[in-house]
Amino acid sequence: MGSKNKLKRFKENETFTNVFQPTRDELVNSNFNLKGNWQKAVFKNNNPLVLELGCGKGEYSVALAQKYPNKNFIGIDIKGARFWRGAKTAIEDEIENVAFLRTQIELIDYAFAENEVDEIWITFPDPQIKYKRTKHRMTNATFLKRYKTILKPEGVVNLKTDSEFMHGYTLGLLHGAGHEVLYANHNVYKQEGSPEEVTSIQTYYESQYLEQNKPITYIRFKIKG
Ligand SMILES: C[S@@+](CC[C@H](N)C(=O)[O-])C[C@H]1O[C@@H](n2cnc3c(N)ncnc32)[C@H](O)[C@@H]1O
Repeated sequence: MGSKNKLKRFKENETFTNVFQPTRDELVNSNFNLKGNWQKAVFKNNNPLVLELGCGKGEYSVALAQKYPNKNFIGIDIKGARFWRGAKTAIEDEIENVAFLRTQIELIDYAFAENEVDEIWITFPDPQIKYKRTKHRMTNATFLKRYKTILKPEGVVNLKTDSEFMHGYTLGLLHGAGHEVLYANHNVYKQEGSPEEVTSIQTYYESQYLEQNKPITYIRFKIKG
């Protein structure tokens, strides 16, 4: 995407009522005004709150919001020019139970209060295969701890990925630490039993992997207290 197009999207994001872009300082040093208040202040209801981490263009957030009008969804990504697509679609199609937050996932526990979140989706995260990149892997122990803080006690995490490495790494880590694996599937379109929303919604990255005939994997789990 050209830089002119990106600038246009950044400008448009600023006008969207469903886009929130706190600065790092606002999150870390001041008590972010939406922390603990997302349902009331943004969605004007008390419905369950679901996050999509690394949402890219926001396909999952938008499609799940359409499918589940009685839940609220927030797509989170550091790249505003990507989720501009999802935010624009939501405005054009008047989908009011989805919003987008531009921040680093590392700061997630500054953006959401303890027990504020019901469910998390992690869709096609960068697998960060090199050992040196372990700390950036979105299912490592440090990230799981952050997710546990903001999730309700019964909250669940969904991981959908094309990366066999990420799938195996995450399963190993979950078993090793005694977290509860509720469901795992190493090829969701071939091996039966995946929840419907796993096979009925495809993200931008997923459609590229499917063209290359890559198996898509899925894990649903609870993080122990
Ligand atoms: C491989 S893409 C997948 C995007 C989308 N989920 C999909 O399947 O099409 C990974 C996304 O995660 C975002 N991302 C990676 N690390 C991040 C971080 N630490 N904080 C926020 N976003 C991050 C990237 O900007 C990118 O949009």
